[in-house]
Amino acid sequence: MVEQVETSMSETGKLCVDGSEFEMPVIVGTEQEKALDIGSLRARTGYITLDDGYANTGACRSAITFIDGEKGILHYRGIPIEQLAGKSRFVETAYLLIWGELPTSDQLASFSRQLTENALIHEGMKYHFEGFPNTSHPMAMLSAMINALSCYYPFVLEFETDKDIDKAATLLMSKVRTLAAFSYKMSKGQPFVYPDPNRRYVGNLLHMMFTVPYKQYEVPRAFQKALDLIFMLHADHEQNCSTSTVRMVGSAGANLYSSVSAGVCALWGPLHGGANMGVIQMLEQIQEGGMDIDTCVKLAKDKESGFRLMGFGHRVYKNYDPRAKILKAAAERVFAQLNHRDPLLDIARRLEERALSDQYFIDRKLYPNVDFYSGIIMRAIGIPTNMFTVMFAIGRLPGWIAHWREQFLQGSGRIARPRQVYTGQQQRDYIDMDKRRA
Ligand code: CMC
Repeated sequence: MVEQVETSMSETGKLCVDGSEFEMPVIVGTEQEKALDIGSLRARTGYITLDDGYANTGACRSAITFIDGEKGILHYRGIPIEQLAGKSRFVETAYLLIWGELPTSDQLASFSRQLTENALIHEGMKYHFEGFPNTSHPMAMLSAMINALSCYYPFVLEFETDKDIDKAATLLMSKVRTLAAFSYKMSKGQPFVYPDPNRRYVGNLLHMMFTVPYKQYEVPRAFQKALDLIFMLHADHEQNCSTSTVRMVGSAGANLYSSVSAGVCALWGPLHGGANMGVIQMLEQIQEGGMDIDTCVKLAKDKESGFRLMGFGHRVYKNYDPRAKILKAAAERVFAQLNHRDPLLDIARRLEERALSDQYFIDRKLYPNVDFYSGIIMRAIGIPTNMFTVMFAIGRLPGWIAHWREQFLQGSGRIARPRQVYTGQQQRDYIDMDKRRA
């Protein structure tokens, strides 16, 4: 399997610090992206770099996903996302991301079989779920339960062979659906529904979520296809906040399940995966008359308001997010197939048009991101808003696994540990209690 393809040049860059010049090697990626390797900077100059939000910092070398944010390009293992969206399915794409190559039909059949055979979770885990109040957020439950998985599969605490990683990865990919569906059932106060071995990856998830004892849920094909596409488009996005979290936690030697559990927590944030909930809440507010489109755009431009146009803007994309483009078309398709209209889709279209013609958004190159249209499709499927980010987590799982695995196999063993510029008090003496003033 291809794990790392990298071109390098003997080029160097020069940094001038305190009047002295220091040469630093230039690292060149396979798509000709260049990085200045400042690994020796502090030792040679005494300086560190300061990079708010890591916007200019490459934290690792990775052979998994390539993004060109200026051009709106996204490749998984070299393959354009548009090709995968047209020809592949989520499970096949997950295989590609984790193991680096598209599977042969035997490999895919074997992976799918293992996903089916491992979907049950240990009965003991049901009691963990039952301990949560039914007001618990499904993301809190998902993160806790992924972490708890290592108690049932202790081999993940210490991998002995590469095969152990593959096994842990497959178990997690399989069980995450059951954990997500059980979280949903807890929040609904409904009995758990066990996985059905005759259903495929996405169909099984929807079955476990929506079947109730008195009514078997028949999963419409259009829903399966649409959710499969959503999962695939979310499957990896290089060093985003949650993936960087997974790598950071993993760099300390933490096991795959703890690292992924931390990634789920990062994803929950409204600026990251939580934005898909924010989009629907914003669109609903407009629909219910709580705000009109002009006010929404005005508020988003006003820094004092603390309001942002949810589903807009991206750290890397300074062009239309290619995933949003695919999802916008998918939303139109799903509604046409269902012969259904959602007023939120019309509002979203108008809001997009309004924002894209506004100078504020043009100047800052703010375009719809993946979260802008995904929620509208999930709403049509019947997925409640508080499960949107859980769906994102299921989709992003192969990416988290692939990055954890890549880092583990690279085996540098170096803990991720940034530095800081300290801005607090200089050294001072302890003051006894009777001498302190408020
Ligand atoms: N609405 C209004 N203004 C915005 C927005 C927005 N959605 N996004 C960025 N800006 C402004 C920002 O205020 C700043 O303006 P100025 O230069 O005048 O200070 C400028 O655009 C650059 O923004 P930034 O904060 O430096 O951008 P960032 O790279 O730090 O943040 C982001 C990226 C995605 C967090 C941000 O665009 C945002 O908050 N978007 C809304 C939340 C959202 O949709 N998140 C999902 C991201 S995609 C999926 C995922 O990764 O989970």
